[in-house]
Amino acid sequence: MSVACWLTINSWLLGERRLNKKTVRDVDVSGKRVLVRVDFNVPLSDDIVTDNSRIRAALPTVEYLINNGAKVILMSHLGRPKGVEDKFRLDPVAQELADLLGKEVNKADSTVGDEVKEAADKMKLGDVLLLENLRFNEGEKENDPGFAKQLADLADIYVNDAFGASHRAHASIVGVGNYLPAVAGFLLEKEVDTLTSILEDPKRPFVAILGGSKVSDKIGVIDSFLDIVDALLIGGGMCFTFLKAKGFEVGNSLLEEDKIDLCRQAIEKAEQKDIALYLPSDVVVAKEISPEAEAMVVGVNSIPEGWAGLDIGPDTISVYRGVINSAQTIFWNGPMGVFEIDQFSRGTEEIASAIAESGATSIVGGGDSIAALKKFRLEDKISFISTGGGASLELLEGRTLPGVEALMDKI
Ligand code: 3PG
Repeated sequence: MSVACWLTINSWLLGERRLNKKTVRDVDVSGKRVLVRVDFNVPLSDDIVTDNSRIRAALPTVEYLINNGAKVILMSHLGRPKGVEDKFRLDPVAQELADLLGKEVNKADSTVGDEVKEAADKMKLGDVLLLENLRFNEGEKENDPGFAKQLADLADIYVNDAFGASHRAHASIVGVGNYLPAVAGFLLEKEVDTLTSILEDPKRPFVAILGGSKVSDKIGVIDSFLDIVDALLIGGGMCFTFLKAKGFEVGNSLLEEDKIDLCRQAIEKAEQKDIALYLPSDVVVAKEISPEAEAMVVGVNSIPEGWAGLDIGPDTISVYRGVINSAQTIFWNGPMGVFEIDQFSRGTEEIASAIAESGATSIVGGGDSIAALKKFRLEDKISFISTGGGASLELLEGRTLPGVEALMDKI
């Protein structure tokens, strides 16, 4: 898709802009070395990128910079390496990026230092240089000012387009902005604008669907959502801590004992605010997480001892489908069950299909939900897929992301 077409779709979806920070449009990039933080934290198998969505999502900014005569220096983390680990090198990412751009990408073997400086000095207009994995240098996660300065010394302008990593106060996300004019890229802008718009002015009914394994990851956003949604549907492993808070026995299902009180408070808040908070009425249970395991559907009031809930059941699917069908805005993060195994995948597939068929503005975030959309071939039916998991949840909790905070304000 061309940048112009992409921007048109973006404005159509969003209506207006919310990010109150300068963007690449506000600076003259022509002839400048522009250091761009991207989130190329992509899955690899045998040195091949198996999902290039995050690389594709950064292309509008990268292509804009190339077309406007900048020298583009890209930097990213990949995984969580302990020091320098060859399996986390960015060479496969450079290859994938070169294929997508249809032009050469020069890959540096280090992140900073003489070799990188020399490569940056030699760049011509429109050239692209990709630095080595930022997390090979421990200064990255420590937001070390010395490391940030070394990165900044490579360039004239800093662009943050790594929405998915903008909740991390790391050197390449926050520190570099102390030394260079710091602006947002198009992806960061689109993510913040879209997610903020659903907080501020959602078309109603607004339904949020939260799943995944851990309540602890989602309790903040549940609390915020109870101030803005019309209905909240809970599924996935985390529903069992809620069910326990309601007094049900959950057998061997996932349970976070120390979060039961928080779930109880969320249930009370929903009651006080008259928000419909839905929990499963039936679940698929098995004694082990395996494709061969014996599985059965039970009511949540009769989960047998020694069995674990691994998906929502058919009655729950039917109720959740009804709520989704009536929605005008939908946010979904987290699968309803262990969708990677067929016999526990029906809940996630049905909910994903219901969202796709709803006609509502639909926003999906989180790696597992996106993997589920891909598995069920429903990606194209979603209005907006966020590239950020943790970052999108923190933004929806109403928190300011350090990577956004560090950028220059729009005056
Ligand atoms: C992500 O995959 O969510 C981002 O790239 C951030 O990665 P991190 O959780 O390792 O910081």
